[in-house]
Amino acid sequence: MIDILINHFETVHNKPVATKVESLELKKQLYEPMPQKGINAQVVMQQLQNDVFSNVMHHNHPRFFAYVPSPNNFISAMADTLASGMNIFAGSYKAAPGATEIELVTIDWLRQICGLPPTAGGLFVSGGTMANLTGLTVARRIKLQNNIKNAVVYYSDQTHSSVERALYILGFDHTQMRKLPSDENFCLRVSDLKDAVFKDLFRGKVPFCVVANAGTTNTGAVDPLSELSDFCLKVGLWLHVDGAYGAASILCERGRSKLEGLEFCDSLSLDPHKRLFQSYEAGCLLVREKNWLKETFCMHPEYLNDLEMQHEEINFYDYGIQLTRSFKALKLWMSIKVFGIELFEKAIQQGIVLAETVEQLLRASTSCKVVSPAQLGIITFQYIPKESNFSLPEINLINSRIIERMAKDGFAMLSSTQLRNRLVLRMCTINPSTTEADIRKTLHKLESFGKIEASILQATQEKAS
Ligand SMILES: Cc1ncc(COP(=O)(O)O)c(C=O)c1O
Repeated sequence: MIDILINHFETVHNKPVATKVESLELKKQLYEPMPQKGINAQVVMQQLQNDVFSNVMHHNHPRFFAYVPSPNNFISAMADTLASGMNIFAGSYKAAPGATEIELVTIDWLRQICGLPPTAGGLFVSGGTMANLTGLTVARRIKLQNNIKNAVVYYSDQTHSSVERALYILGFDHTQMRKLPSDENFCLRVSDLKDAVFKDLFRGKVPFCVVANAGTTNTGAVDPLSELSDFCLKVGLWLHVDGAYGAASILCERGRSKLEGLEFCDSLSLDPHKRLFQSYEAGCLLVREKNWLKETFCMHPEYLNDLEMQHEEINFYDYGIQLTRSFKALKLWMSIKVFGIELFEKAIQQGIVLAETVEQLLRASTSCKVVSPAQLGIITFQYIPKESNFSLPEINLINSRIIERMAKDGFAMLSSTQLRNRLVLRMCTINPSTTEADIRKTLHKLESFGKIEASILQATQEKAS
């Protein structure tokens, strides 16, 4: 198994980025009656190699630019293997005091990176979705004592869907959610927020929480965090920042200048499996006062009496939703120890700069138009054929076909998203193994696919007329 992993890390850049097998074909290969008797593990491994590992989207491939890539590192993968093999229960101090201390110190490093006060604390969770759910659960408890009647939450239309999902899970309905149209830079408009809050106050509602973005999934945009925190403080609103994608960029100079004000949040989601090069799953929630976590989640079932702790030691099962939890802190702790945080800073900055390089190349191209500039490693654009009279829906169609062609081709993978009424191509360049040559070749391919699609569409139109 270790050999397979080593081989994967050494050769992933030579493999196709995307998957090829159709689901029906896979079903035929993998759907079988439950085995009554065991077979040799080598045979099972071979099946895995043939049907599963050879057929995945490689999120850690240097030319995987789609969604949010996850360029995990080998130390992280090995640490996860250890945590799983040792089967460490990271829920209670008594069960694994060293694991608890490692989680505490790693969380404290993240707290320092994000500039939160020493009273802050947090925990590792599976990812951004769980971090947002956990953070908003804390907000509901601390700000509202769990009474959500008339309470209202505010966020921009660029906010990740996991926030709305969390609100529904927590019992809010859509009348309690104010999804405000973002401005021309895809950021929350503070003036609109103020208007909405005052309107709600006037109507007898209970404005309670603002969710701000520190790097949106669509464009990497950062909401005006300082202004938002000023306003939230003034009117007593909770400020949850979704930094699942972008918050870790605060480590490097480019990111720091964008993320001013992050340190004033009440709660913050931050995903090490996105920007800190960790294997899935590794998300993290930080809150301004660590006691808030215990106030929200602590319970005392009689069957856990033997694990109750006095004094300073903590049981992480009192700090979040899960009782049984794996030792997720280990991989980040080991990676930071082995590589040193300076290497992380460099790697993050490199990803941000690479998106800026893409932007320069696109601006120099006569057939591509930048839709949102490079921000925290994300850029969006459209292929617009030269001297053509295509309508916007036709341009959208050409761009969606480019995505399909790129995926089929397997050299590089991009994803699309919708910005206003445009279907845009989106590149997220956060893999430190990506080279400028990778970028140039990808854009070259993309333009040639665009040319083909444009001429196909043109020919269809001519035939029709
Ligand atoms: C800004 C943001 N928030 C939340 C999430 C959800 O994170 P996860 O997929 O780790 O649950 C994502 C995922 O891309 C994200 O980009």
